[in-house]
Amino acid sequence: MSRFSEPQDPIFHRLNASLAFDQRLWPHDVAQSRAHARMLAAQSIIGTDDRDALLAALDAVEAELVAGTFDFATDDEDIHMAIERRVTEIAGRVGGTLHTARSRNDQVATDVALFTRDAAGHATRAIDALTAALVDAAERHLDWPLPGYTHLQRAQPVYLAHHLLAYVWMLLRDRERFVFAESQTAALPLGAGALAGVNFATDRNAVAAELGFAQIAPNSIDAVSNRDFVLDYLAAAATCATHLSRLGAELVLWSSEEFGFVTLSDAWTSGSSIMPQKKNPDAAELLRAKAPRIVAHLSALHGVMHGLPLTYNKDMQEDKEHLFDTVDTLDLCLASATGMIRGARFHRERMSAAASDDLIAATDVADHLVKRGVPFRECHGIVAGLVRIAVDSGRTLAELTDDELRGASEQLEPEAFRALLSQSAWLESKVSAGGTALARVREQLDAARSALHPV
Ligand code: ARG
Repeated sequence: MSRFSEPQDPIFHRLNASLAFDQRLWPHDVAQSRAHARMLAAQSIIGTDDRDALLAALDAVEAELVAGTFDFATDDEDIHMAIERRVTEIAGRVGGTLHTARSRNDQVATDVALFTRDAAGHATRAIDALTAALVDAAERHLDWPLPGYTHLQRAQPVYLAHHLLAYVWMLLRDRERFVFAESQTAALPLGAGALAGVNFATDRNAVAAELGFAQIAPNSIDAVSNRDFVLDYLAAAATCATHLSRLGAELVLWSSEEFGFVTLSDAWTSGSSIMPQKKNPDAAELLRAKAPRIVAHLSALHGVMHGLPLTYNKDMQEDKEHLFDTVDTLDLCLASATGMIRGARFHRERMSAAASDDLIAATDVADHLVKRGVPFRECHGIVAGLVRIAVDSGRTLAELTDDELRGASEQLEPEAFRALLSQSAWLESKVSAGGTALARVREQLDAARSALHPV
């Protein structure tokens, strides 16, 4: 019997069905169904014969899903109904006992929590691979100078290792965000029933233990309403993807002929269909472009959850595509970034030449005057005046005459001034903790190495 006298409109069926995308939850759905059947029998809610029949049917269903021979029916609405239908076809009437003391509301929340837990764990491992690649690259380019930029204008020189390690710290923070997201999946929703609990003396802790949850969700209403762990995963992914977009953007710039700081390996670039000379940094460009898509998934799920009355609402079915696409996209991005960094060839000469424009030492000249008792704000003006004379007359700072220097400030000692304008001096004077002087970068490299997690 059915409550309905009319069949579903086929268009409603298409709108309502989630099978096309929630199929990938099947391993979790099978795992939780096994745990649930065992618990029902242990609590004498079903007989042990029924349990064994259910477990045998679940094994058969799993085998079909693994082999790709599982026959999805056109009216299977979602993976939960498809599996239960097939269990019942295989086990007969006893299949109908599987859903005792369970609702799709606590069932789907459980599957999604298990999926998110795996995805977060996977992201941390992918980050481990990328941070290891970055630290290796930093080690190989420890004392290679390049300009550091602000506003994409040459600002102050740094060592390449220092620059690459900046990404390591960003990614290590991302890793912590994924660990947090994973921790938010630790409470088992199953057993909450539709929303109020169930009419049977279930043992939720047994199910939690079998499925690897540290505890059970303490409130049945919250258990079926909660998708915070998905939001937490998406938020971690959004920040991480934004970081990767900055790495992608720099690789695009740096691999251009104009910069010429790096050559990306052939494995991560493509040719043009019309211009034979082209080697395009598509992977780096896509790293740059994928981030907003992940941020949009985060924002979309906030939109879905916003203002939703408790408890389950069908709106929440929309969590999955945002989650799945984010997992797949981020996975690709992290693996691509790792591959690109492992294959990148940096060009010492080009980077060094760009960092030897002596205007880049302007701050160092100002600080030299500070050390001779001139207040910093005055020094800033004095050096700005010198930069202007040099730029207007097409000379470097080192080419300014003694008279010009003395004219700018009596405190400016021409010999000391020229000594400051050698590249290694600007770099090696940045001795503050976290700065770019080689000794500091070496310390940072050691710290980064010990903060890495074994791949
Ligand atoms: N496919 C649904 C989802 O993904 C499963 C839960 C359905 N529950 C319900 N009460 N209609 O959210």
